[in-house]
Amino acid sequence: MSNRPSQICIAYHSGFGHTTRLADAVAAGARSAGADVQLIPVESVTDEQWHTLDTADAIIFGTATYMGNVAAAFQAFAEKTGRRCVEGTWRDKVAAGFTNSGAKAGDKQSTLISLAVFAAQHHMHWVNLGLPPGWNSSAGSDADLNRLGFWLGAGASTDVDADPDQVHPSDVETCRHLGARVAAVTAQLHAGRRVTEAA
Ligand SMILES: Cc1cc2nc3c(=O)[nH]c(=O)nc-3n(C[C@H](O)[C@H](O)[C@H](O)COP(=O)(O)O)c2cc1C
Repeated sequence: MSNRPSQICIAYHSGFGHTTRLADAVAAGARSAGADVQLIPVESVTDEQWHTLDTADAIIFGTATYMGNVAAAFQAFAEKTGRRCVEGTWRDKVAAGFTNSGAKAGDKQSTLISLAVFAAQHHMHWVNLGLPPGWNSSAGSDADLNRLGFWLGAGASTDVDADPDQVHPSDVETCRHLGARVAAVTAQLHAGRRVTEAA
């Protein structure tokens, strides 16, 4: 395994553009940590993009929360990976997740759990958010990173009447952090694999 940049895919669904803003932030964070990144909207995966997913080192899953869970378009994508799941095509890739809802809570923990279970079914290595909860004391504010206090992945909230360019800056930065963290963990895993393969 050569000392090359990590290949990271962001496989996401956004119905109205808000989660796309977050996917872009995840991508920016991963690129800032040295990874090559491809954004893949899951509702229209081409053969070439399936190949990119299959050969990636890490896949970060993202979806808007609809009806307290992943969007139907994301679940349709997940179900299309059944053969890969059985054959272990994505085994030992790195995984992580992010979601966005209208309400501050919005039952989006269910979405992150679904994404983590999806990754586990593929035998992927789930990376958590790696941030302390923000906005949880009298000294805190909604400008804090991880303002909604998630551990499992990045959780964002966007007012239902907001335009995509009004996605909360803290949520954008939190997603940027997630991308950088996944890129760092993926590079560490690479380095470790080089050592064990050489031994
Ligand atoms: C069909 C549908 C179901 C939704 N369900 C939820 C929900 O369960 N919880 C919530 O807080 N927001 C819910 N929302 C609001 C969206 O999560 C929110 O508007 C989000 O920003 C949409 O992101 P997108 O533009 O990337 O699709 C729902 C929106 C739609 C269209």
